[in-house]
Order: sequence, then structure tokens, then C-alpha cells
Amino acid sequence: MGKGYGCAKSILFGEHFVVYGLPAIGVGLSKKIEVEISKAPHTLLESSHVDANLLAGLDAIKNAMGIKDNFVIRIKSEIPVASGLGSSAAVSVAFVRALSEEYKLNLSDEKVNAYAFEAEKVYHGNPSGMDNNLAMCGGAIIFQKKPEGASITPLRIGKPMNLVIGVTGKKKKSTAQLIAEVKLKKEKYPELFHYLFEAEKNLIDLAIKAIEHGKLEEVGELMNLNQGFLSAMGVSSRENKDIIYAAREMGALGAKITGAGYGGSCVILAKNEKNAEEIAEEIRRLGYVAITTVAQ
Ligand code: MEV
Repeated sequence: MGKGYGCAKSILFGEHFVVYGLPAIGVGLSKKIEVEISKAPHTLLESSHVDANLLAGLDAIKNAMGIKDNFVIRIKSEIPVASGLGSSAAVSVAFVRALSEEYKLNLSDEKVNAYAFEAEKVYHGNPSGMDNNLAMCGGAIIFQKKPEGASITPLRIGKPMNLVIGVTGKKKKSTAQLIAEVKLKKEKYPELFHYLFEAEKNLIDLAIKAIEHGKLEEVGELMNLNQGFLSAMGVSSRENKDIIYAAREMGALGAKITGAGYGGSCVILAKNEKNAEEIAEEIRRLGYVAITTVAQ
């Protein structure tokens, strides 16, 4: 029997832009997924974490690792599926770690991450690799996709950030579909997107400094600006907007989509712990799921 775990993540800045090589900022959250495997004659999934494509990704991992055995795979999850919190990447990382334990491979984090990425490619078409990196359960990182491989730089958080994750419970479009739609728009309006990308590049530079120096009001303002850019790209749904506007009206410093968007989840920077609880309550009152967490 082998066991492994992976973490939920939230992208604070730069989703979608990251696919094209811009830096993005993400934080690993304390919510986890645990995978337990035992050898069996046939594959059997025991999980409430149902995702039609899940096994295809796990098979890709087994293929890449040259493993032919089948398993009963038990998944215990604190992360809502298809919510923009990186649940698929967390399962992939947890599965690789479970295989590593089962076969006593003692895989390095780098290897775990690389095998998990095999599943991410099955799920998301052309992912940046950011989700699997954050599912490894580190703190905050600056992630940048580069031709020679991803660069990951730890980011110091100057002042703890009280976050609320608002989960719409609806993922109206898959990550792969949203990435493809953004690509089409970018190809149709190259000049417009050039300026949008330049603005985002500038915004990320400012966000890195604001996070490092604990300037939370500025972090929040930049989150709101980033939401404007994502909305312009067409990845914000009515449910996302409901949550974002409700949070802002409750005094949030900033609120935006986190992850691929069009449903999924929103990340909200609250003023403090009390404000985070109030915002979470309001989001629940509107019929959505809300999780409070601290990034530090
Ligand atoms: C998905 O969580 C984030 C995207 O930027 C896609 C990716 O980075 O692979 C939309």
C-alpha cells in the first residue's frame, strides 16, 4: 500500500497570462487531497472526487513511470472538484507520491512534479505547470514558464494575508476550453492583447513588491485590476461576478477569479480575520461555498 498527498492552490495573479510565459503568483493552501493505493487485478476508483477524465491522467502517470500494475485508488479530498483550486493537480501529485511509496522509489520533489505534469497535460491540453508546482505544498511562488523549463522563485509574504476562497460550484467551461478560447481571441486581436499583456507584466512586478512589503491595500487593488483584465479576456462568469462584487461590498481589499475562471473559484483578500469570516458568511448566504485560509 502506498500513500501520498497534494495541496490545493490559489493563483493570486497571472492565470492565463502564465500560459504565454508571463510570471504568475500563486500560493499553496492548507486544504489537502490524500491518495491511497493498493495493488489489485483491475483498476478501481473509490472516491467522491469524480471527474470523468481522472483515470486517463493517472494512467499517463503510470505510463511515464513504466508501471504496469493496477490499483484500488482511494481518494480523500478537502478540495472541491473543478473549482479552480487545482484539485486535479493535487490528485496527480498525491498519486505520484503514493506510487513512490509503494515501489520505494524515494522520488525527489522535482521528479514527483514532472510525473504529475504528465496527467496535467491529459486534463488541460496546454497547461503552464503552475498547478502541479503549487500542489507540492510550498508557500507562495513566482512561477514562469520558459522554453527550457519552468522557473520557480519562492516569494516572501511580508504580512499574512487573510484569504477567502469563494467556490461557485459551477465550472461552465473546462480549463482546456478556456485556454483555447483565450488563444483564439489573442490571435484575432494581436495588438489589443499585446497591450493587455504589457499591462499585466507591469501589474505582476508591482504585485510582487506589494506582497513582499506587506502592502495589502495595494495587493488588493492590483487583484481588482487583474480581475478587470481577466474579465476583458472573457473568462469571468456571472457567478464569479456575484461573489467578487459581494466581497468588495463587504469591504474586501481585493477580489478576483482564481484559476481558469468561468465559474470555478474566486480569491478574496480580506482586511483581517473578522472581515474574512464576514465575507465568507455573505458568500454562503448567496448560496456558494466559502473557505477561509491564511497565506503566510
Ligand atoms: C489554471 O489553474 C490556470 C491557467 O493559467 C492554466 C495554466 O496555468 O495551466 C488558466
